[in-house]
Formats: sequence, C-alpha cells, structure tokens
Amino acid sequence: MAVTLVIGSQWGDEGKGKIIDYLSEKSDFTVRFHGGNNAGHTILNDYGKFAMHLIPCGIFNDRTETIISNGVIIDLEVLVAEIETLKRTKINLKDRLFISTRCHLIMPYHKLLDKLLEEAKGKAKTGTTGRGIGPTYADKVSYNGIRILDLLDKKIFAEKLEVQLRVKNKILIALGENPLSQKEIEKKYFSYLKLIKPYLRETYSLIQKAIKDNKKILLEGAQGVFLDNDWGTYPYVSASTVIAGGANAGAGVPPKKIDKIIGVVKAYTTRVGEGPFPTELFNEDGEKLRAIGGEFGATTGRPRRCGWFDAELVKFAAEINGFTGIAITKLDILDHFKEIKICTHYLLNGKRVNYYDGDSYFLKKVRPVYKTIKGWNKKTVGIKKYENLPKEAKDYLKEIEKLINTKIVYISNGQKRNEIIKV
Ligand code: GDP
Ligand code: IMO
Ligand code: MG
Repeated sequence: MAVTLVIGSQWGDEGKGKIIDYLSEKSDFTVRFHGGNNAGHTILNDYGKFAMHLIPCGIFNDRTETIISNGVIIDLEVLVAEIETLKRTKINLKDRLFISTRCHLIMPYHKLLDKLLEEAKGKAKTGTTGRGIGPTYADKVSYNGIRILDLLDKKIFAEKLEVQLRVKNKILIALGENPLSQKEIEKKYFSYLKLIKPYLRETYSLIQKAIKDNKKILLEGAQGVFLDNDWGTYPYVSASTVIAGGANAGAGVPPKKIDKIIGVVKAYTTRVGEGPFPTELFNEDGEKLRAIGGEFGATTGRPRRCGWFDAELVKFAAEINGFTGIAITKLDILDHFKEIKICTHYLLNGKRVNYYDGDSYFLKKVRPVYKTIKGWNKKTVGIKKYENLPKEAKDYLKEIEKLINTKIVYISNGQKRNEIIKV
C-alpha cells in the first residue's frame, strides 16, 4: 500500500497531527497538499510538543522526507519561524524538506483584508483564523496571486506586487487602513526568500518519481470535510478543497494511485469559528468535553465549541471521500462520562433529512436524534489492545462503525505517538 491519504472528517482538529506523526514512522514521504497556516497540527513525541502549521508532521521521523506541494498557500514569516523552531530542536531539514515553487504566497494585504472583511460582516462573520486564507485563495483563482516562482525573479515580483498594491491599497484606504509600502514588502519577502531557498524545488517530479519507485507516501490533509469550500457548511468554511479530490489538484497525485483513504474522526465533535453545529452542547457535558479534551485552538487559542458525535456528518464524510478506514481519536476523553450520546440522524419538521439536503441555514434548523449509550467510566489510556478496552467502549465504537458504514482501523487513546491501538 504505497499512497495513504489522511483526511479530517469533521470541522478540523480531529487529531490529524497525532495520526500523521504515528503513520509517518513507516513512510518515505509526508506531503501537505492544501490549506495554509490556518492548520494547527499538534504532535507530542520524544522531541516535545509542537503545533505544526505548514511543515508536514512527518518531519519528526528521520526516514521521512517532507513536501509542501503546490496546493498549499504560504505565509513566509510563519514558514521561516517553523524552520527555525525545528532547527533549534535539532531536526535535520537538509534534503528532508521540499517546498514547491508553485505555492501561492500569503501577502500582508491578504491578512489585513481577512481581518477587515470579517469586521465588515459583523455578526455574519465566518470566524476565520485571521491568517489571510480566504483572500489569498480568492486571488489565486482570480489570477491575481503571487507565487514563490515570481519571488525568484526580482523584476517579476516587483511588477506583480505593483499591480496588486495599486488595487489593494485603494481597498485598504477605503476601509480605513494605511496603504502598504512596496519597498517594505520587497525587503521583507526577499529576506525570507534567502532563508527558504535551500528547500525550494519543483515538487511534481519528486512525487511522481516516488510513486513510480513504489515509495510509501502519506498525504496530510488539513481542516476537515465540513470546512471544504464546496461540501462544507458554506459560507462557514475554509477556502480550499479538503476532500480527497484535493490531493490530485494540490499534489499532482493521480486519484487511482491512492491506495488508502483514512478519515480522522474525533470520538465527539468540535468546531472553532461560526456556523451551524447540530450536536453542539451548551450544558455541563459540553464544558466537560472542552475542559478534559483541552479543546482550545492550536492556531488561535480560541475555545472550541463541543458536542456529541454526529454520525450523519461522518457518514457523509466517509461516503464522499471513499474512506477505506477510520482513525478514531480522543476516545480517552469519553472515559469520564456516565452516559454518551450519538446523533444517529436528523429530523426536520418530523421528517428524516440528510446533511446534503440543504445549506447552513437548513442545518441550523435540523433536530439531531440521539441514541444514548452507557459510558464505561474507566481509564482507557495505556490500553494497547482492542480486546482490553471496556465492553461499553467497544459497543460505542461498534455503533459508530455501523452508523457510518466504515471500519475503524486505529483507535487513539492519548496525546502521545504510541498511545494508539491498531485494530
Ligand atoms: P489536528 O488539527 O487535526 O492535527 O488536531 P489538533 O492538533 O488541532 O487538535 C487535536 C488535539 O487533540 C491536540 O491537542 C492533540 O494533541 C490531541 N489529541 C489527539 N489525539 C488524542 C487522543 O487520542 N487523546 C487525547 N487525550 N488527545 C489527543
Ligand atoms: P486543522 O488543520 C479547525 C476554520 C476557522 C473558520 C473557518 C475559516 O488544524 O484541522 P480560515 O482561516 O480558514 O479562512 O477560517 O475554518 N478552520 C479550522 N478549524 N481546524 C483547522 O485546521 C481550521 N482551519 C480553518 O476556524 O471557522
Ligand atoms: Mg488543528
């Protein structure tokens, strides 16, 4: 099984970092293929605790080479800081980190526009991470983006930046901001370029060669299916393609070459930012999930909204991606509940409805129907074998498998790399 794709199956923060860190022990390459530093993938291993925003989580395994491929948008300031952190941790990056020159750059005006548009929307805001993600992808698809390739040629970069600033500064001024200086941006970006130059290359050929050589490739998804620009809870989504198809566009991996598609699923549900969330809890149980689960954003530190497991959502995620298996995470957080609920389906005006039947306004109105499961109320941390899990925990997992019609192949029961059960 050479190519494995890992995808977030809810609203992000499912524990993809943990699963990638674990799986990369047996991988030759780990590849990020979409999104930007809106992602925050937490890892806890022998090197310490890290929240990775751009560099693939496989970087902590010596045998793995890492690739940031063309679909990723890059804030050079964040990339440089991440490189510095890894260097200080004595992680070898030479010949192990490759960044596609096709990547689009997050520019200072993108970050400002993200903030200003959110402010302008007021109560209708998306609740973005404020990292300039939407405006950068908008420029990419409307042919106004600036890529690393452009930065490699001083004249081209200056020309493109000049055009963009002519437009963007007018917008910034209209929205009450100061205009940005071309000279200052050039100075900053060329100084970043110096620091990242050793890692730049054309990555398509690298990935194609790896596929031909039957190397083990791990594709590291960011965000989650319900933040997908097409299939998520639009307009409360992110700007990139999160679902499996994004790997073809964002890394150049042909769909038929993907052998396994693993959905990472939290044992309950969380969401950061605005938007509908049918199983959201506003009671003690929600507080408890947040407190025990440490549910605070790895990128922005915002408290995550918490709720019960939603099988209607994850069933859709499994279907649209064609999951070959599920990695369920944070089972241990449910160790502390007498009763646990699973949303089996939705009703609207007494009739059964599907997630995909309507939009975000529709999803705000649906009524989740729950099945109550007896909690196991004992520690699962440290358990290494499926057989040794409490009966009630196995029942919970079986119920999930049945509802989403997909096999659970990994069960994560702790933050650390080795706190995982292979089923
Ligand atoms: P990602 O964006 O999908 O990589 O997820 P985040 O890193 O943003 O959030 C997941 C959080 O849960 C992180 O703090 C992880 O360290 C933590 N985590 C992942 N798996 C487990 C698990 O099985 N048990 C516990 N207790 N924590 C976990
Ligand atoms: P990882 O990879 C959770 C959410 C934001 C907001 C919406 C749009 O760590 O799972 P954006 O800044 O992308 O324009 O924000 O998407 N969001 C995430 N939520 N985890 C993420 O990434 C996210 N990336 C974006 O909170 O609701
Ligand atoms: Mg995260």
